Amino acid sequence: MGTVSHAGPAVSRALCALDSACPSRNFSIVIRALLLLLALALPASAQSNGSATRPVSGSFNGDQAIRGESAFKAFCASCHEPTFHTGEQFRFSWYGRTLYDYFRTVKTTMPEDNPGGLSDDDYVRVITYIMKLNGFTPGADSLTSDSLALKRIRIGDSTRSP
Ligand code: HEC
Repeated sequence: MGTVSHAGPAVSRALCALDSACPSRNFSIVIRALLLLLALALPASAQSNGSATRPVSGSFNGDQAIRGESAFKAFCASCHEPTFHTGEQFRFSWYGRTLYDYFRTVKTTMPEDNPGGLSDDDYVRVITYIMKLNGFTPGADSLTSDSLALKRIRIGDSTRSP
């Protein structure tokens, strides 16, 4: 019993002996508290960066992809076979990048004879069609041309992330 009542002071004396800055112990406590906050904050921000990306699958809906196929036929198919946008070449060029990269590239360079010629909504629809061709699955969400939202969506899959 006596050991219990003396343990507190004994431990704090021991800590004090180890702590070279014992006279300014309050200061050292503040530093420790700040370090603890940092330790808590850093993983949290790293985590929020990690969760700042979502997969392509589920980021668009089936209706968009169907309309995208029509838009593709109207605006792209005169120069491109759908298969031009799939397979190893697609994975090599685009896996690890975001839907924003894809959207911006297509919007600023295609159709080759009229870059930027489609509405943002049609570019988004065409892109959802191409994503579906690449095996990504539609979900309930509707994809928009909002650049921040597009930047959060990473092309790839769990086994081939960057
Ligand atoms: C007038 C012809 C023409 C039209 C119409 C056209 N493109 Fe292209 N596109 C090209 C040419 C030429 C290239 C370069 C081909 C190459 O790199 O071998 C290209 C390249 C691309 C690429 C780059 C391939 C890659 O993955 O790196 C994408 C993506 C693309 N086009 C998408 C589209 C989309 C989407 C549309 C419809 C909105 C479209 N293109 C309409 C001619 C066209």
